[in-house]
Amino acid sequence: MSAPVVHVSGVRKTYRSGSIEFEALCGIDMTIDEGEYVAVVGPSGSGKSTLMNLLGCLDIPTEGTYLLGGEDVSTMSEAQLAEVRNRRIGFVFQQFHLLAYLPAWRNVELPLLYAGLPRAERRERAVAALERVGLGDRVRNRPGELSGGQQQRVAVARALVTEPDIILADEPTGNLDSASTAAVLALLDELHDAGRTIVLITHEHEVAARASRNLVIRDGLITDDVLVGAR
Ligand SMILES: Nc1ncnc2c1ncn2[C@@H]1O[C@H](COP(=O)(O)OP(=O)(O)O)[C@@H](O)[C@H]1O
Ligand SMILES: [Mg+2]
Repeated sequence: MSAPVVHVSGVRKTYRSGSIEFEALCGIDMTIDEGEYVAVVGPSGSGKSTLMNLLGCLDIPTEGTYLLGGEDVSTMSEAQLAEVRNRRIGFVFQQFHLLAYLPAWRNVELPLLYAGLPRAERRERAVAALERVGLGDRVRNRPGELSGGQQQRVAVARALVTEPDIILADEPTGNLDSASTAAVLALLDELHDAGRTIVLITHEHEVAARASRNLVIRDGLITDDVLVGAR
C-alpha cells in the first residue's frame, strides 16, 4: 500500500489581527487515498478556503501535521512550498485565473515553464492537456474568445498538465451557468474515472453529491464523513 495522498492530523489554523485571535480550523483530521474524489462541503464561513489554502500548500497550519504524498509539508518554507505546489497540486479556482493576453496553450504550459521544462515538451504537453478537456480546436484562442465553461476547461487542462498528485478545485462551478456547470462536472467525473485524485471544495450540496465521498465542515471542524456513491 502506498501512503495516502493527503494525511492531515490535528490541524488548527488561528488567524491573528492585533490582539484578536480567531480559530478558523479547530482540529482537522482527514485522509484521502489515491484515486478518491472527495468533496469538502460546508456553509460560508465554515473554514473551506482556509482548509483549501492548507491542502494546496498556500499556507501552513498553526498546529498539527500535513503529509502530502508522504512528505511533511507542515513546516516548510515559502520556497519549499512553492516547489511542492508546482509539482504535486493542480489548482482550479472559481475565477479561472487565466492570463487574458496569452492563448490557451500558453496558459496551460505555465506550470511546466515554472518547472523548467524545454519549450517543445511544454507545448506538446499543453496541447495534449487541451485535447484531453475537449479543447483541441481552441489552443490558440485567448480566454476572452472562449465561453466561461471553456475557460474553466482551460484551467482544468492547466491543472492536469504537470500530472499532479491531486487536483484541488475551489468552487469550480461557482461562476458558471448550468450548462457549463454540467460540462465541468462531467469532466471531473471523467478524470476521476481515469484514476485522478480530486478534492472539490463547495458550499453546494448538489455539486458535492458528484464526488464519491463528502467531508462536511462546520465551524472549523469536520462533522461528517460520508460515502456518496451515486456513481
Ligand atoms: N485572514 C483572516 N483573518 C481573520 N479571520 C479570517 C481570515 N480568513 C478567514 N477568516 C475567518 O475564518 C472563518 C473561515 O473562513 P473561510 O475559510 O474563508 O470560510 P469559507 O471559505 O468556508 O467561507 C470565517 O469566520 C472568516 O471570517
Ligand atoms: Mg471560501
